Amino acid sequence: MRTSWLLFAAACTVTTPTERQLADPLLIQVDAPLVSNQVVIEDAESAAVTDRMVVWFGRDGDLYRQAPGQDAVLIERALGLQVAGAVDLEDAGVDGTPIELLLINGSLWTWNSVLLRPSPLAQDLPGQVTRLAYDAPRLWIETTQGLFRWSQEELVEIRVGGEPVTRGFTIGGVALGQSVIWVGTETAIHAVPVQGGPVVFEHNVQVSAITADTYGLVWIVVNGELQRVSRDGELLSLGRTGVRSLVSERGSPDVWMGADDGWWKVQGLLAAQLTTSPAAAPIALDPAGRLWTSDGVDLSVLAVDRPVVLTGLSRGDVLDLPSELTVQPTDPELVQSVMIALDDTLITVDETWSFSLDPAELDAGLHSLDIDVEYTDGDSRAQTRDIFVGLPFDVTWDEHIGPLHEARCARCHTDGTETILTDFASWQDRYSDIIEQVQSGAMPLTGTPLTNDELSLVVGWGNGGFLP
Ligand code: HEC
Repeated sequence: MRTSWLLFAAACTVTTPTERQLADPLLIQVDAPLVSNQVVIEDAESAAVTDRMVVWFGRDGDLYRQAPGQDAVLIERALGLQVAGAVDLEDAGVDGTPIELLLINGSLWTWNSVLLRPSPLAQDLPGQVTRLAYDAPRLWIETTQGLFRWSQEELVEIRVGGEPVTRGFTIGGVALGQSVIWVGTETAIHAVPVQGGPVVFEHNVQVSAITADTYGLVWIVVNGELQRVSRDGELLSLGRTGVRSLVSERGSPDVWMGADDGWWKVQGLLAAQLTTSPAAAPIALDPAGRLWTSDGVDLSVLAVDRPVVLTGLSRGDVLDLPSELTVQPTDPELVQSVMIALDDTLITVDETWSFSLDPAELDAGLHSLDIDVEYTDGDSRAQTRDIFVGLPFDVTWDEHIGPLHEARCARCHTDGTETILTDFASWQDRYSDIIEQVQSGAMPLTGTPLTNDELSLVVGWGNGGFLP
């Protein structure tokens, strides 16, 4: 089977030397991608997916959470809960995993692995929240009243010429060499530096969808027509109509385009049609480049080439804490076997394709993890991941643990408690207790649990042999 890649008839409003004006669409054949479009969750009226591929969804108005490799868990039973956004914040929840920030019924909530609580940010935001985007360290929040940036404990409204941003935004744009956020107001779109400052470019068009690719090019939909803005601010019409939505793939220049005639994948000026029925609403693109969509009834995943997803490692593929890893093949019902090897030694995987790795049992440094998935139709996918075990530096009492103790434990453990922790020796004596207490989130007794980074330090100190 081959998929046709169609070259857009580029009806240029601005002609650039590199993008010729083309009278007729050109048909280009390339090797066919294998496309799978599977329903992954049935009866989900609303849904959102985080970067770590935790799926939040509403079913009959109740709220569920499904972590990779696990069954969905009912979090809140209430009539009419609809989830419309979810991001992993860098702060750590009680089990050391990131706190999830959720957009439910127009308001913000946090989930720390135990409790669903209104986010403190919710009080300061006017209007109903409509969209979230996390571009660490900046969190962008769109409400019915405007667009807000949250960073360094500060909430700032983005305004253009005194006007609020009301018609969408996209992060990841580049204009004249600066990182910008493109925002839509009632009459135009504008490139605004992410840190704030004067508008770099603007165009008098009203957009219904907007996204930026990895080159910093911005793709927009104006009256159903696809157009693209170059890094020099030039607008190019791509002569494609009936477009409903755009989603860009992180780490790749590809853009997904939802249209009246299905989902398309766009590479440069080439487009390949992946499905033929009217495109359902996009939910999220996951880190493996799979598109999650919802038709208001079921949640589906659309993928090209059956990518294999591995979840459970810390950022940068670091294994710094004992972790449960999960392999998530695309088209799970067609999987014949999943084989995993660490440095050429086979690892036993359970029926959910999960396995545990403990950095204490491995040498510090780089290891290679091979994943092989065989499908019943003869297809197979292999992936090798370099994972880094331990922390890339020595953890010492003087530099790391002492200050952590002062900041997080000393105020209670100097004399007020039975367990006296004051210095290097007492920490080393009670180390296994300490690990148990901080990993479970039982300690510190009050205040916020240790962050992932702090936990890694405590674990790394022991693994490194309690350096002074
Ligand atoms: C707000 C006060 C408070 C803070 C902050 C706090 N603790 Fe505790 N901790 C307690 C109390 C109270 C107990 C129970 C009495 C006891 O065992 O001393 C306790 C008990 C413990 C125990 C013994 C638990 C057991 O059952 O064996 C350990 C170990 C411990 N804490 C470690 C820590 C560490 C490490 C930190 C800092 C990361 C910390 N605590 C921060 C109040 C605190």
